[in-house]
Amino acid sequence: MHDSDSVWEFAIADRIAFGNGSVEELGARLAGRSVSTLLLVTDEGLLEAGVVDAVRESIPTAIEVSVFDGVEPDPDLEVYEAALEAADAAEPDAVVGVGGGSSIDVAKVTGSLAGTDRELLEYVAPPIGDGASVPESGTTVVAVPTTAGTGSESSPAAVVSLPERELKVGISSRHLYPDLAVVDPLLTASLPPAVTAASGMDALTHAIESYTTRRYDAKPEPDHPDERPDYGGRTELTDLYAEKAIELIGSNLRRAVNNGNDLEARRNMALGSLLAGVAFTNAGLGATHALAYPVAGENHTPHGVTVAALLPAVMRYNASTAFDRYRTIAQLLGENLEGVSDREAGDRAAAAVEALADDVGIPSGLRDLGVEEGDVPRLAEKTEEIQRLLVGNPRRVDREALEEILESAY
Ligand SMILES: [Fe+2]
Repeated sequence: MHDSDSVWEFAIADRIAFGNGSVEELGARLAGRSVSTLLLVTDEGLLEAGVVDAVRESIPTAIEVSVFDGVEPDPDLEVYEAALEAADAAEPDAVVGVGGGSSIDVAKVTGSLAGTDRELLEYVAPPIGDGASVPESGTTVVAVPTTAGTGSESSPAAVVSLPERELKVGISSRHLYPDLAVVDPLLTASLPPAVTAASGMDALTHAIESYTTRRYDAKPEPDHPDERPDYGGRTELTDLYAEKAIELIGSNLRRAVNNGNDLEARRNMALGSLLAGVAFTNAGLGATHALAYPVAGENHTPHGVTVAALLPAVMRYNASTAFDRYRTIAQLLGENLEGVSDREAGDRAAAAVEALADDVGIPSGLRDLGVEEGDVPRLAEKTEEIQRLLVGNPRRVDREALEEILESAY
């Protein structure tokens, strides 16, 4: 049941191909799109490990393929600019991103902005950039994720790191949705356990935050453009995606981490991650992701590990705003709540997330991530600036509340 009669909208990648072996059909899917030159965007590691071969082999020999393998984790302006230069040289009709969220983000931006003469930063929202609109481009953009976590394959955004400012900023536009997402769970089979665990916890955080974020009609009007929320708010439709994602991730992440060759678990994780990505890129996120940016920026911890360490504390802080939602989360994570009060159920949902993180080997607190107790006030202050995420949090968060959450996640 939904408690609102507001008008909402929903967006998703133009086309999604999902399933084991789906990447083998990529060539056939490109055939109808008059592609004669193609740029593959990936990282060196995936190229060396042979993961990119499966994609390459599916591309007909009539298509001229060039490769940009310079993507690095948390890509900065230099990485994006190098990819754009590669595109200027290759003049591709299609850009195919193969990899984690970083490669897909770089591919999306490259496909949309190749040939434009603006600086990349101009497309970033103020106050960092000018918030210029990303133009519609004729280049076909294909996203082929090799991890199950970021949701970038069906998102309208790309993240750019500005390491000298210990900051990550986003470029967001409806023109950044990939034209085609090819989600082939077999590509995730060789992911090491630690990456499977971290990306899986990121996907779970996307699902839980989008399930508990503010309703579509309940986000406050921003006082300032910088406070405009990233996405609209939860709706009947995002709830369906989020619930299914929580269930799939909760019952498959342990299996996928313990045995990478468990193809059923891999398939369910790839699906759960995709659904969670669709949920949060419509509903929005909350305080967990807001806090994660400064924490990861200062401590250089992987995004998935960072959100996993913060999520239970944020859930406990938020639970009083919608006990029924936290009760459902606990049930979807397999908790038996017979005779359990609503208030207690919120705690059980947070404990279920902690147990999952612990079982897949993710550090349970900020201390293990290198955060010092004295860092808390500064981290809270930096987080308070990320209003575009905080406005989606179901319970109001001010500086003091952020400090309280950080203390309890310590
Ligand atoms: Fe995330």
